[in-house]
Amino acid sequence: MKFTQYTFSAVAGLVLAFGATAQDVPPAAAIEVDFVQHIKPIFEARCFECHGPEKQKSGLRMDIQADLMKGGSEGPAMTAGDGANSLMVQLLLGANEDFDRMPPEGDPLTPEQIGLIRAWIDQGIKWNDTAAPAAAVAEAHPEKAMVEALGNAWKVEATHQEGPLATWEVSTSIPAPDAGAQVIALTAPNHKAGATYNLLWSPVKKFLNGAISAKVKAISGEEDQGGGLIWRARNKDNYYVARYNPLEKNLRLYRVVEANRDQIASADIEVPADQWAELTITHQDNLITCSLNGQKLIEATDDAHLKPGGIGYWTKADAATAFTEIAVTQ
Ligand code: HEC
Repeated sequence: MKFTQYTFSAVAGLVLAFGATAQDVPPAAAIEVDFVQHIKPIFEARCFECHGPEKQKSGLRMDIQADLMKGGSEGPAMTAGDGANSLMVQLLLGANEDFDRMPPEGDPLTPEQIGLIRAWIDQGIKWNDTAAPAAAVAEAHPEKAMVEALGNAWKVEATHQEGPLATWEVSTSIPAPDAGAQVIALTAPNHKAGATYNLLWSPVKKFLNGAISAKVKAISGEEDQGGGLIWRARNKDNYYVARYNPLEKNLRLYRVVEANRDQIASADIEVPADQWAELTITHQDNLITCSLNGQKLIEATDDAHLKPGGIGYWTKADAATAFTEIAVTQ
């Protein structure tokens, strides 16, 4: 045993492969750590690329407090009060044999940076970041219900966000169109910002070719009503959307590229506002069709988004809308 330890510590670095003890961890910074000032810049520069809005490697998202505290595949990566033994610090040192060093690319963090993160955890993982999207998304996450009901990672976001994000929920008060169907509803649009598109979407369900469909019912809205589905979504600013609007009495297909919406096609419809309507989209390579209640109303081609992407729900402005779960055929 002694011999083994001696050998490992003699070979620089190897000892770390078996868990760094508190002595091996750079000393905790001897200051009161401020998340926004000291920690967030490190996370932004070195972690968000893989653990942020776009990607959540190993299931870990670090730009939203609730998600960061929840941790990744291993559960919480930090134990408040014990920075040295927290998984996050161990991974920064490359000291866990089950995981790569973090970040896996580029230089390791400096001992000073690791010391700041260690101290931040020691001091109770305080989060003073009030920057709108991060805080608002965390609040708007009806996390548990959504994850349980939809079995996936769903995000509440908005294109052209103005004001707080809308509230989405698995509704028990809106009657489902079919027995046993789950109703997902945007129940509280919080503003009338006409240019805001409210999204509830999952980057996990990758969709390229096939069909998606869901039933949609307009509940209310003065400026806008109804809603639709998005697919091949890369992020909140890049996707296709097909939506029906009982106020305008039309079904429309748009492409959204870098948050700019361009209409691809439009068809007139007669669907009363307070009834469920089934929206079905098929997409094969660059050929898109949109049907309402089984009637094909749009057929178009478009070359903008040719890679697989996420799927989700879409509403505009003050529209409150109910949906059934999205059925995907691939
Ligand atoms: C280039 C992409 C990339 C960057 C940048 C990155 N990570 Fe990771 N991270 C990963 C991958 C991939 C895994 C899974 C690694 C494995 O299984 O060996 C991971 C796993 C983790 C885990 C374990 C999560 C779990 O419970 O499964 C933590 C904690 C973590 N990273 C923290 C960080 C921190 C802190 C930073 C910034 C200092 C960072 N990562 C930067 C790609 C990255």
